[in-house]
Amino acid sequence: MTSQPRPQGTQQETSAGCPVGGRIPPPPESRNYFTMPNGCPVEHPLLAERVDKKVNNSRYGSQLIQDLNTVESVVHVSRERIPERVVHAKGVGVFGEFETTNQDWIKKYTDANFLQPDSHGKPKKTRLLSRFSTIAGESGYPDTVRDGKGCAFKLYTEEGNLDWVFLNPEVFNIRDPAKFASLVHAKKRDPATNLLDANMTWDFFNNNIEVYNALMRNLTDEGTPSSYSRLLIASINTYTFTKKKNDTEWDHHLVRIKMLPDPPIDPERDYFTLDEATANVGKDPDYLTRRLYEETQNGPHPTWKVYAQILDPAKTSIDVFDATKVVPETDCPWTEFGKITLNEVPQNYFTQIEQAAFTPANIVPGWDISPDPLLQIRLLSYGDSQRYRLGANHDQLPPNKACSYVYDPTRRNGAYNMTNYGHVPNYLGSVLKTLKTPDHYNISYLKWQGEVMRYRSTVEDVDYKQCREHWDTLDKRMKWHFIYNLGSSLSPATKPVQHETVQIFGKIWSDKYGQKDKNNINWKQELEKELARREKINKDLGKKPGLVPGGEKGTPHYIPGTVPDLSTEVGNPYKRLDLNLN
Ligand code: HEM
Repeated sequence: MTSQPRPQGTQQETSAGCPVGGRIPPPPESRNYFTMPNGCPVEHPLLAERVDKKVNNSRYGSQLIQDLNTVESVVHVSRERIPERVVHAKGVGVFGEFETTNQDWIKKYTDANFLQPDSHGKPKKTRLLSRFSTIAGESGYPDTVRDGKGCAFKLYTEEGNLDWVFLNPEVFNIRDPAKFASLVHAKKRDPATNLLDANMTWDFFNNNIEVYNALMRNLTDEGTPSSYSRLLIASINTYTFTKKKNDTEWDHHLVRIKMLPDPPIDPERDYFTLDEATANVGKDPDYLTRRLYEETQNGPHPTWKVYAQILDPAKTSIDVFDATKVVPETDCPWTEFGKITLNEVPQNYFTQIEQAAFTPANIVPGWDISPDPLLQIRLLSYGDSQRYRLGANHDQLPPNKACSYVYDPTRRNGAYNMTNYGHVPNYLGSVLKTLKTPDHYNISYLKWQGEVMRYRSTVEDVDYKQCREHWDTLDKRMKWHFIYNLGSSLSPATKPVQHETVQIFGKIWSDKYGQKDKNNINWKQELEKELARREKINKDLGKKPGLVPGGEKGTPHYIPGTVPDLSTEVGNPYKRLDLNLN
């Protein structure tokens, strides 16, 4: 692979409204000498000021605090880190554009300005920033390890920034926000050992069965894609398209969004096998990051077709606000309305990507939130995380700054405030007399009347049924890989936890939730065989010092088994993909 590109600030002047959204000014030009941060010229950046004495060949040097340049540079290094995102910490971001491809259809449902034709009747292009991430690993964690993938887009529209904070796979692990903290903890590190622990992960899964629909997808090779550009991406949560009918009335349509790579996904080529993905952990822990840079800079540019699913709750038996479920296409069809192309690498990772703040609360007129309980908690959680991570004025940072009209002079002060509205009054007083209603805005459409209820969701038949329906769409190769991948993930857990998982899969694979497998394979037995095979290998490997095999101990062990498991065979992932990268 070529070395990481270093863009010099070329601009894509194609997008309507905001051709340079997210870009940063060019770095200062060197006059071949250094200065202090206040501009005071420095004689030489390596000249130290110290009490200095040479005795024989040794130099005694007491470094002085009054050596302003050295002191300043050292203390600044200690402040280079900001808190990483608590989830989705490892990521990569690039710029691109959204283009409407079906304006006649989309304008029936939403009057969002960026989706309407331009003054010549042509589809508009909207500049965007995208960020792709793994979910559980820390910012330095290898990116080919099996995980869901975050896919966030910030569209710099002429009516404000619209954030699409989406994911792969197409369903989420939970539907109750109260489970979020447990989900995050179960997939991260054990509090006592700071090690990953298959036991705690699978113990959480087994006691929250709704997780299995996302798991079924993540445990196929879809969980180890060979490029971020080859992901099916989904909004998962339900949003609302709005369209103004007259001064007092709006049309509202519930909607989900999905993006499919163009050309379409070829699982054999676009997904790594477990062994290939594991090999990459050692070969290049930043493989997916590097590959997205390469594709964005050198092409073929990552491209997705964007689809909307207008949801009519009366036409489906699925709860359209349950993030763990797909709404079948046969109930509510998908329609293509746009295209995303990624074509510009960032100038500076920290400024433009680490400081990027995506939140589903960033909406625009025509594109609204919905009473989806998971989404509702997300509306608070992202801004809250960003106020902690980036500060109260994160909206003024280059990747987050809207190019459109922004005006609220009551929003004042706070750390790193760059503009602060100068002398404009910071309270609502006489300005109220001249305030007008804008032409275009969203209104809440639900006429709520009800009582506060205490609600706890329960596991239903549909939680098993959708897992089985997805299983039936897999070909034989994907199914065998699934057993192999599942065996690897589960084998480091203890026997009781393994047993519970096997029973749950046994239920998913039972006739009750689908047709008998046409190849007459008993997948439950195959899973048991695979676990037994891995247990034997792990036991042998575990005799080596420092390695702890999972699976063979009956009670939770204090030191978790190795994750991923020891018996993964490491092959050459590039050979089959014809990438010739060795
Ligand atoms: C209760 C449910 C959820 C909560 C509380 C939650 C919370 C969070 C938080 C706190 C972050 C870090 C934000 C930051 O520091 O900038 C994050 C990142 C992210 N979440 Fe969620 N999340 C939830 C569910 C979801 C769902 C359902 C999706 C997608 C449909 C999703 C997609 C993402 C993505 C893509 C990122 C990374 C954004 C980036 O690249 O900066 N999350 N989430």
